[in-house]
Amino acid sequence: MKSGDGFLRIFEKRVKKNIRLNNLLSKEDRVVVALSGGKDSATCLYILRKLQEKKVFKELLAITIDLGIPELKKSLEKAKKICEMLEVEHHIYSLKEVFGYSMNEIWKKIQKLSSKESVAAPCSYCGVLRRRILNQKARELKASKIATGHNLDDEIQTALMNFIRGDLLRIARLGAKTGVANFQEFIPRIKPLRVVLEKDIETYAKLRKIPFSRRRCPYSKLAFRNTMRLVLEEIEKEHPGSKYQLLSSVDRLASILRKEMKAATARNCKICGEISSQEICKFCQLMKELKLIK
Ligand code: FES
Ligand code: ZN
Repeated sequence: MKSGDGFLRIFEKRVKKNIRLNNLLSKEDRVVVALSGGKDSATCLYILRKLQEKKVFKELLAITIDLGIPELKKSLEKAKKICEMLEVEHHIYSLKEVFGYSMNEIWKKIQKLSSKESVAAPCSYCGVLRRRILNQKARELKASKIATGHNLDDEIQTALMNFIRGDLLRIARLGAKTGVANFQEFIPRIKPLRVVLEKDIETYAKLRKIPFSRRRCPYSKLAFRNTMRLVLEEIEKEHPGSKYQLLSSVDRLASILRKEMKAATARNCKICGEISSQEICKFCQLMKELKLIK
């Protein structure tokens, strides 16, 4: 993509096409954006605000989760700033207030309680907690959709990770819109930016003067995802266009898998009652691990 006006137009056209083709938004929608303050979610909020002004959907709000990681304080400030700039209702929830522990405290607790080999990277625990707060709070705020800033790179990294783990069910769930039929308590997730590259989002955010923070989670270098990121960058460098091709292959594969895996339906967690693909949801498994529930 070229820089300047042409770039902005092509970028927005691509995102809008994704929204239109996948029916991500409808007139009556009340959309909550999961806003971290980074470039992806800030851009997602910016584009959705433009669409809301054009009455593509009805209401727009943002939720930010304060993880209690000091290095991410700046992201929180940027999240506030962009909401003020776009005049979007903003709700901030702190992990510590909701669960009694900040992410740093949870990580220390996990390391103490688990044998070293079995400890996954903190970001995977954090993801479970963030998803839980987001879903609960979005439900309280009567949202009809949750929009996240996932970009094309995130999607193909996730697909590769699940492919390596042999988790075909998670690949089947990939797509622009995720949700579970017959489970009203689960608010559908939409990913308007999953068709654009991470580096193009950064260019877009800069050209549009969208405030965002460059701070990454300090634990992210420990995550499996980081290895996938490096591998994919290397492939893209040698074979330009591979990332787009990979996304299209993932989408085709996911659609085949969805037909094949109809039987794998969701159910309610035996402990908390939230929707889960297993008997006990990931959140309750984590709470058990932390000895916060029995
Ligand atoms: Fe939350 Fe890394 S610990 S994203
Ligand atoms: Zn549960």
